[in-house]
Amino acid sequence: MTAPTVLRPGDLGLDQVRRLLLGGVVPRPIAWVSTTAPATGVPNLAPFSYFSVLSTEPPMLGVTIEPRDDGGGDKDTLANLRAGSDLVINTVPEALGPQMWITSHEHPADVDEFTEAGVAATGSCLVRAPRVRDAPLAMECVLDRLVPLGGAVLVVARVLAFHVRPGLLDPRGRIRHDRMTALGRIGGEFLTTTDSFALGETA
Ligand SMILES: Cc1cc2nc3c(=O)[nH]c(=O)nc-3n(C[C@H](O)[C@H](O)[C@H](O)COP(=O)(O)O)c2cc1C
Repeated sequence: MTAPTVLRPGDLGLDQVRRLLLGGVVPRPIAWVSTTAPATGVPNLAPFSYFSVLSTEPPMLGVTIEPRDDGGGDKDTLANLRAGSDLVINTVPEALGPQMWITSHEHPADVDEFTEAGVAATGSCLVRAPRVRDAPLAMECVLDRLVPLGGAVLVVARVLAFHVRPGLLDPRGRIRHDRMTALGRIGGEFLTTTDSFALGETA
């Protein structure tokens, strides 16, 4: 077998490092994160695919927020969290893909991205940030900590409540991905969670 090409991040441009990370770590789930600006109450909604489960007990999720493309400080989601906002991590259903895309544009902080993208918001139970009404799953969270990673920041969030769409769980309490049709990312493109198969019995 021919040896693989060895590429070191320090020898590459940032764009190529990003291409290898985004193309190589696949599929990536998308956290559609809602927050509120504590001073003004303006809701904010934005997608993040540097996203994973960090632990079960306590239930922790991690989302990494990179610097703004224009170099102009924190993205609104991070600014809201630094100012004391809680958050909701919503799953993106396939049907709301175009709206999710609109919320990824860097809108000014005073723009309500739910309204801007035509996404219905509804109240959360335990946190101030609204949730996406038509998300199959929405997780109400509080900020546990912010971990600086060079220019980026890892947001560690603790789940307080799961909102599960009726009919989404099977009799054993497992999420039915054929019904969730969550959007994920593969490189710069998208996929859905319907292409699944079992290799053995799952919990
Ligand atoms: C599918 C998708 C995934 C994204 N993932 C990330 C991510 O993990 N981290 C990040 O900083 N930006 C990510 N972005 C870009 C942000 O969504 C974008 O910068 C957005 O404008 C931030 O919004 P805000 O300023 O309201 O927080 C992603 C965009 C898309 C479309």
